[in-house]
Amino acid sequence: MTSPLVQLVDNPQHGDARGQLSVAELGGALPFVVRRVYWIHGTKPGISRGFHAHKKLHQLCVCVAGSVRISLFDGRREESVVLDSSAQGLLIGPALWREMHDFSPDCVLMVLADTEYDEADYIRDRDQFIRHVAG
Ligand code: TYD
Repeated sequence: MTSPLVQLVDNPQHGDARGQLSVAELGGALPFVVRRVYWIHGTKPGISRGFHAHKKLHQLCVCVAGSVRISLFDGRREESVVLDSSAQGLLIGPALWREMHDFSPDCVLMVLADTEYDEADYIRDRDQFIRHVAG
């Protein structure tokens, strides 16, 4: 049996009468030590992003506002998920081609990563990615 490409984790919620507070914590929903955080926002209508894979990077994507659809491809199978809640995070490990589509105008996609930015870790060509996962 093959494991799903889409791996969602639950971020604990501490909402109360004042509003919401969501947590991603090492040992809880977060399986790695965070060394970098970035966020994608203000995405223009009709724009898609991503179109790359990583050789080693682990990431947790949390859509803290709005919504976005993320598709994952491992060289054979493709799965897609809509993120529209800060109560869930999408874990993306190495060797997964990712594309981000259908950003809502208010989307803020926060990404927690286990390494600093390193362009050498990127595979930005889809055919090269397919060769990479093939062996
Ligand atoms: P890019 O990889 O094109 O973003 P996406 O995968 O969402 O389409 O990144 C856009 C620019 O930002 C590019 O010049 C690299 C730079 N960047 C950093 O400097 N640090 C980072 O942590 C990230 C993710 C990107």
